[in-house]
Amino acid sequence: MPADVHYRLARLEDARAVGELARRVTRRWILPGQPAAAAVKILASMSAKAIRTMIAEGRRFHLALIGDRLVGVAAMRDDSHLFQFFVSTRHQGRGIAGRLWQRVVRDAVRRAGTRRFTLNSSLVAVPVYLRLGFVLNGPMSKTAEGLVTMPMRLDLR
Ligand SMILES: CC(C)(COP(=O)(O)OP(=O)(O)OC[C@H]1O[C@@H](n2cnc3c(N)ncnc32)[C@H](O)[C@@H]1OP(=O)(O)O)[C@@H](O)C(=O)NCCC(=O)NCCS
Repeated sequence: MPADVHYRLARLEDARAVGELARRVTRRWILPGQPAAAAVKILASMSAKAIRTMIAEGRRFHLALIGDRLVGVAAMRDDSHLFQFFVSTRHQGRGIAGRLWQRVVRDAVRRAGTRRFTLNSSLVAVPVYLRLGFVLNGPMSKTAEGLVTMPMRLDLR
């Protein structure tokens, strides 16, 4: 586990950096091969304004930082649904997502007693979620804009 990474919850003023990281990683890893309409919709949901609104509404954005630089984000809805999960390309494969995920679980269990977690995975991220303990939860689905995702769930024992 990298010793130089620290973790905290996002504040409103983090929205711009969260959006920049999310859009950059999404363009690189999720959008290639996806229809243009899906790209427009997904990137709009990651604007600084959209993220600021979600933080203000109480969605929990767990951040990983090296110094002042944002390198990872895991965002939760209703203490049960993971809807954003990104680590900057340069820092992938160092255990940052795993550490963020541990913090998400601890936070949701403490706040809401959560036992079941859900998400809709991009196809590239399915192997990572399987490593984190998720299982497939129904057939692959396609949004109206054509973005393909895999529903997954994790039940705490
Ligand atoms: C998915 C993502 C957040 C993972 O972040 P990361 O910091 O690289 O992940 P970690 O290093 O913490 O690895 C977590 C686990 O997945 C495994 N893993 C990581 N990359 C993997 C890969 N490409 N294939 C299989 N397993 C992988 C790791 O070995 C680790 O398992 P372990 O603890 O049992 O060894 C990151 O790769 C990413 O941002 N991807 C692009 C965006 C994306 O698809 N996000 C998900 C949207 S649904």
